[in-house]
Amino acid sequence: MTDTKMLASRFPADFTFGVATASFQIEGATKEDGRKPSIWDAFSNMPGRVFGRHNGDVACDHYHRLEEDLDLIKEMGVSAYRFSVAWPRIIPEGVGRVNEPGLDFYDRLVDGCKARGIRTFATLYHWDLPLALMGDGGWTARSTAYAFQRYAKVVMDRLGDRLDAVATFNEPWCSVWLSHLYGVHAPGERNMEAALHAMHYTNLAHGLGVEAIRDVSPKVPVGLVLNAHSVIPGSDSERDTAAAERAFDFHNGAFFGPVFKGEYPASLLNALGDRMPKVEEGDLATISQKLDWWGLNYYTPMRVADDATEGAEFPATRPAPFVGETVTDIGWEVWPAAMTSLVEDLYRRYDLPEMYVTENGACYNMGIGADGEVDDQPRLDYYADHLSVCADLVASGYPLRGYFAWSLMDNFEWAEGYRMRFGLVHVDYETQVRTVKKSGKWYRDLALEFPRGNQ
Ligand code: FCB
Repeated sequence: MTDTKMLASRFPADFTFGVATASFQIEGATKEDGRKPSIWDAFSNMPGRVFGRHNGDVACDHYHRLEEDLDLIKEMGVSAYRFSVAWPRIIPEGVGRVNEPGLDFYDRLVDGCKARGIRTFATLYHWDLPLALMGDGGWTARSTAYAFQRYAKVVMDRLGDRLDAVATFNEPWCSVWLSHLYGVHAPGERNMEAALHAMHYTNLAHGLGVEAIRDVSPKVPVGLVLNAHSVIPGSDSERDTAAAERAFDFHNGAFFGPVFKGEYPASLLNALGDRMPKVEEGDLATISQKLDWWGLNYYTPMRVADDATEGAEFPATRPAPFVGETVTDIGWEVWPAAMTSLVEDLYRRYDLPEMYVTENGACYNMGIGADGEVDDQPRLDYYADHLSVCADLVASGYPLRGYFAWSLMDNFEWAEGYRMRFGLVHVDYETQVRTVKKSGKWYRDLALEFPRGNQ
């Protein structure tokens, strides 16, 4: 369904439509106004880690183009902006000195949103850990959780009076497993023991962060953004079904379990518990404080089969073939139905609060055509199909309050550098010219329908 008026009519009048970005992916200005390096600066400057050895030095130059980018967000017709705060701008060494110019930048950002009638959804940690904290072990050190708590307090002290929502973490799955077990993201570790430490201390940091946020800004709704995996068995054999359940525990349960149930999955504890750090008394209570909302980042399903190899590490699965015929330019299968089953499954398993889709979108790399337009019809179709799923979820009674497109504009796509484009707006990295794509115009037409009823 690509008719924006028809699609809009399937959402409640007060549904939130927004766009999302993250600090390291768009800001650039990595050495300015007191910012110190993050683990992503170190990682991207190391050969062989990021495609083309791209780094975040300039990115979308958003740090210098804040006002025009806020105008662009306004032009996109949305009522909310999801952005992240760069810890190394605020507390450049992770602990110690607070850097006022860093706070000033986000002050301007938040005020600029307010002035334009745009609600602010801040994420405190979208992966740019101050590099100095690696001296203590980064996320494998318990002390990093307490450093995060202080950082959360400092940010809320300054911005809390004007934030409409705050999330502690973006996608712990990535900053834990992808970064410490699979080695794809900074700091590039491939080490189960390190990953299990990062898992527990990230969960702990989330809980400590919730405490700090509520202490300083009790009125700001607090949430956590998870890239929950829609795990689908490759066949209906018993082996693959059991493999999918193990994969669920490992990829989702490691985070949803402690946060929403106050416990790690039994299968994970049985298989890997002896390599986990000590879970101290009170940790799980801290981690499982009730949240006001949670955010789902969904792109693609995870199809798994049993890995019968002798001694295969938990969860002992291997990828199963795609079923969907459409694959985006980054190689991800398009399968909107998995978004439906995922939300149903998660609400069945856990006592979840209201939710937002905090990221959803597609990678297509087409550029500007001879007519000056970016014709990215497949991205438009992806949005239309997934938004249709969202409308159905709302109709079925799931407490889905809003949707954020990933992303406002093309940006630094982590290990893929600038070659993979997710924007509704095209960025020419030579000139920094922004061009709204066909999908962006379509999304604007949809977003402009909201809030409905008072226009
Ligand atoms: C998510 C990240 C986001 C972006 C998209 C494509 O995992 O949260 O920063 O890179 O994927």
